[in-house]
Amino acid sequence: GRVVLLMGGWSSERAVSLKSGATVEAALKRAGVDVTVIDVGPDFLVPLAAAHAERPFDRAFIILHGRGGEDGRIQAVLELLGIPYTGTDVTGSAIGMDKLACKRIWRGEGLPTPPWALVDTIDEARTALDDLGLPVMVKPVAEGSSVGVAKVDRAEDLPAAFEEARRFGRVMMERFVRGGEYTVAILDGRPLPAILLATPHAFYDYNAKYLADDTEYRIPCGLDAADETHMQQIALRAFALIGGSGWGRVDFMRDAEGNCWLIEVNTVPGMTDHSLVPMAARAVGIDIETLCLEILATAGH
Ligand code: DAL
Ligand code: MG
Repeated sequence: GRVVLLMGGWSSERAVSLKSGATVEAALKRAGVDVTVIDVGPDFLVPLAAAHAERPFDRAFIILHGRGGEDGRIQAVLELLGIPYTGTDVTGSAIGMDKLACKRIWRGEGLPTPPWALVDTIDEARTALDDLGLPVMVKPVAEGSSVGVAKVDRAEDLPAAFEEARRFGRVMMERFVRGGEYTVAILDGRPLPAILLATPHAFYDYNAKYLADDTEYRIPCGLDAADETHMQQIALRAFALIGGSGWGRVDFMRDAEGNCWLIEVNTVPGMTDHSLVPMAARAVGIDIETLCLEILATAGH
């Protein structure tokens, strides 16, 4: 069938999406799929509807990250146009993009996620700091790729971190968990091996994710089998609880006592050559073409 690959978008992760999209486009084409690429802008609706009316698309592969593309909006448009799409549905996408909504659901279901506060003003941020302690993570509620995120080690750095996160909308603070940063990819209901991310910088930020060559990715991640399985089970449950489906990735911190803490979920994870889902798939013998075909096969809704 005819596949439309939606990439780009207008979020702060546009550049990441274009790279992810290039990887997916090349892989699907090598696999013989009839792919039409649409670089999605805020005014994508008319061109997409027109192209679909002229020669209908059978499925859409969404590789848009962040606002507009990962938050349910594109998903809703595709539903209205009647084009089945990859990944999570409208509601799950909207929840997945909202770190607070995820944390409330996880805590409500007894899953571990670090203590947090939603802060509207710098005064509220100072009060939250008294409660959460240092170091603390300051984050936009609904961004990806660590855009606007800071780890604050000293109280005097809080105002600048708050202002920076503020540029991207609502701001939350979250207790920093000392330990290892891990991620678990999910493909069609099954977890892939966990990856341990090790960076010499303060945390796995945008630079460490896409630019630096000093980020270390450990797979196998070094946990013993029972601990890795435990993390994978939490990942599956966390993903299911927010309404995730098809494919995704769940990010964790794991402290020195071996407790896993849910940080966030990604319903359209990166697929760049630095990205984690392709790496985890490769580790179990799934090449990039097979991975993209498997994701495409999950298209439903
Ligand atoms: N938000 C980026 C694309 C990721 O999670 O991989
Ligand atoms: Mg994310």
